Amino acid sequence: MADPQPLLRVPVQVEPPYEVLVGPGLLRQLPELVPAAQVAIITDSNIAPVHAEGLAGAFRQRGARCELLVVPPGEGSKSVTVWADLLERLAAAAFSRDCVVIGLGGGVITDLAGFVAASYLRGVAYVSVPTSLLGMVDAGVGGKTGLNLQAGKNLVGAFWQPRLVAIDVDTLVSLPQRQFRLGAAEFFKHALIDRPEQLALLGQDGLAQDAGPAALSRWLADNIAVKAGIVARDERENGVRAHLNFGHTLAHALEGASRHQLEHGEAVAYGVLFAALLGRARGLVDVVGQALQLVEFVQPQPLHDYPFDELTPFMARDKKNRSGVQRFVLLARLGQPVVVDDVTAAELGNAWRELRGLLEGTPWEAK
Ligand code: GLY
Repeated sequence: MADPQPLLRVPVQVEPPYEVLVGPGLLRQLPELVPAAQVAIITDSNIAPVHAEGLAGAFRQRGARCELLVVPPGEGSKSVTVWADLLERLAAAAFSRDCVVIGLGGGVITDLAGFVAASYLRGVAYVSVPTSLLGMVDAGVGGKTGLNLQAGKNLVGAFWQPRLVAIDVDTLVSLPQRQFRLGAAEFFKHALIDRPEQLALLGQDGLAQDAGPAALSRWLADNIAVKAGIVARDERENGVRAHLNFGHTLAHALEGASRHQLEHGEAVAYGVLFAALLGRARGLVDVVGQALQLVEFVQPQPLHDYPFDELTPFMARDKKNRSGVQRFVLLARLGQPVVVDDVTAAELGNAWRELRGLLEGTPWEAK
């Protein structure tokens, strides 16, 4: 029999440093990797029967007290009410400061569980176990945790780094195909800003759920290293972490204007195309072809026929803006992002028109 595949390790050099482990079969190894006496697994009701119940059993077999805390799936669980209920349940179980909170699920769960860990008893250890592609390459790594308020997404939260991120690529096999495609938007965003060689995975025989554990582990570890490197340089988003926002200015506006009917990955695919058009019009690198390939890969819902001035108020609220000046992340070259603050309203309007023109006659034509 072939040797089991070794785990890949991506270091995240914050203080204290931690590792992202990537490989198949990691969920089974988790009780050994997290030798705590009190463990709370936060997950949703879709993931609980598939991955979490067995994991809780394995922790108990090792002698740990394990609470399995299951919340409804979906963005609605990133709420103050659900968060408060989870804290009450930890307190009712008399979990102490040396407990470990594990977030097992997609981006909603890792954001929520991370904030539970950040706030319970003024902060306990957190282990992130993302099971969606988006969680693996983005939300589950880097220490941003958060909840939504009525007034908007992620308005509450903390920077709270995990002690460990465990990525079991086997969990991708059971991920709904649509979720996989949505996560690909962030994967290829990383490729554009820092791993151009991974853009080849947009084509045939590229990034696919059934590519096998060795290829998936390699691609993911390489891609996660992009985020790990940026987070290490700018943990609190005072500088280069803004590069991770490539494609996100229009994306957040589309999400807001659609009242989140458009999923994040769908909006990012359109946002990357928009940023590519803005950059090309300025004589920067031309990645419009790759951005169109990304839209095809993600297969987003068709774009809604927004008048552009419905989107601009959302862009004006973008967190990258400083003193009322709108900032955009563009690509100077492939793999070389740059933050610009002099994009004019005319340039934005032109890029929007161009984007809609490019999508005319495709399944993504604005309706
Ligand atoms: N998702 C962008 C960041 O973590 O900074």
